[in-house]
Amino acid sequence: MLSEKMTKALNEQINKEIYSAYLYLSMSSYSDYQGLKGFANWYFVQQQEEMDHAMRIYNYLQEQNARVLLKMIDQPPADFGSPLEIVQKTLEHEQFVTELVNNLMNLAIEENDHASKIFLQWFISEQIEEESSVNAILDKLKLAGEKGNGLFMIDKELMARVFMPSGQTE
Ligand code: FEO
Repeated sequence: MLSEKMTKALNEQINKEIYSAYLYLSMSSYSDYQGLKGFANWYFVQQQEEMDHAMRIYNYLQEQNARVLLKMIDQPPADFGSPLEIVQKTLEHEQFVTELVNNLMNLAIEENDHASKIFLQWFISEQIEEESSVNAILDKLKLAGEKGNGLFMIDKELMARVFMPSGQTE
């Protein structure tokens, strides 16, 4: 059984994950409008992953017989600047999410909530991957440049990303 505090915190996290999906969908449409189809694809897949994260928490709350309470989703920005700026903003957002996940784990530890500790472990590992994949794009952009051939190659590479559902039984 989850504490009231943990139930509230996990519901908050559902909201943050859906906001992340909304933010990345906005980044996807922005990239598409700029003619960067690969970026648009990468952000669209990122949006799918965020919904997958939200559903993981949704399912966990239900498994624990806790109440899911959905809240209003904030409006995401619509303009994200240059390719380097949009990826920098992505990294900053993921660092923010990492902090949120760490806070949830701190709460689980504080409450001796072993089930939530195991559940949140997946998110801790996922955030390492998320930050690392965004950092890799950032490095490439810095190296290959934001224009011409370099950008064309990176955009092509980002086109290859496909959504892989994480599996809700882990
Ligand atoms: Fe759900 Fe990108 O963290």
